[in-house]
Amino acid sequence: MEDAEICEAFGRHVHWGYWDREPEQAPTSAEFARAAERLSREVWEAAAIRDGDRVVDVGCGFGGTLASIGAQRSGVSLTGVNIDHRQLTRAARLTKTTRAGNMLAWLCADACALPLADAVCDVVLAVECIFHFPDRRRFFAEAWRVLKPGGRLALSDFVPVGVLLPATAAAGLWPGSRGFYGKVDMCCTARRYAKLAAEAGFVPSFDRDITRHTLPTYPFLRRLSPRLGNLRLSATMETLFAELASRLGLLRYRILAFRKPGD
Ligand SMILES: C[S@@+](CC[C@H](N)C(=O)[O-])C[C@H]1O[C@@H](n2cnc3c(N)ncnc32)[C@H](O)[C@@H]1O
Repeated sequence: MEDAEICEAFGRHVHWGYWDREPEQAPTSAEFARAAERLSREVWEAAAIRDGDRVVDVGCGFGGTLASIGAQRSGVSLTGVNIDHRQLTRAARLTKTTRAGNMLAWLCADACALPLADAVCDVVLAVECIFHFPDRRRFFAEAWRVLKPGGRLALSDFVPVGVLLPATAAAGLWPGSRGFYGKVDMCCTARRYAKLAAEAGFVPSFDRDITRHTLPTYPFLRRLSPRLGNLRLSATMETLFAELASRLGLLRYRILAFRKPGD
């Protein structure tokens, strides 16, 4: 990441931000970085993380969510899982647990095939990454397997309403859609999430639609897109699709959490 502004915005978190209100002008990268930190926090707070918990953050990017937890909680064991070892290398270099007694580890693995024993975690997090996974159902089954009874799963995702499904399915098939954001499956409706969770054995514990808090991210992304070289076109088209669908209320940004029944 050589562009200083892009590095400031996405060097720690690689996701949409959470904004309390719409800024009067297009946000700066420093403002975006603060909004991105806030989104992480909104997700991990939905999992009610406590001191001493063992937390696994799948699709952990550059480790920003684990750094956020490590700065606020003590005695936690934090494991970042990512399919891309280059991101893990950067995460390990950047992320320091700021509280004594915290432990950090990194695993290069697919979130749908976790190299972890059964019932060893208190919390599994998946911040804005589940749409990249090969199969949401397999991920839910894996999260359930590695969680202890009473453990929590929290995630954030772009959730379409039913009428948008033909468009999100078609967008996924468009070859250009793999250009900037990679493979993205935005076909999981709220009803489908409820079914997936129930099939895996989870009980819903949290569901918050934060779409309006994500909208200021779009003007920020529009301002950066000319810098993306040959990925500019696909980035612009995909972001525009998400923005229009979100502003029309057809694509909702949701934070969801679930509990594995037990203790
Ligand atoms: C949009 S980024 C989000 C990163 C991070 N959660 C954050 O919020 O900053 C999506 C992440 O998912 C990771 N990823 C994609 N497919 C994966 C898979 N099957 N298993 C684990 N990680 C995966 C990517 O490498 C990337 O780091």
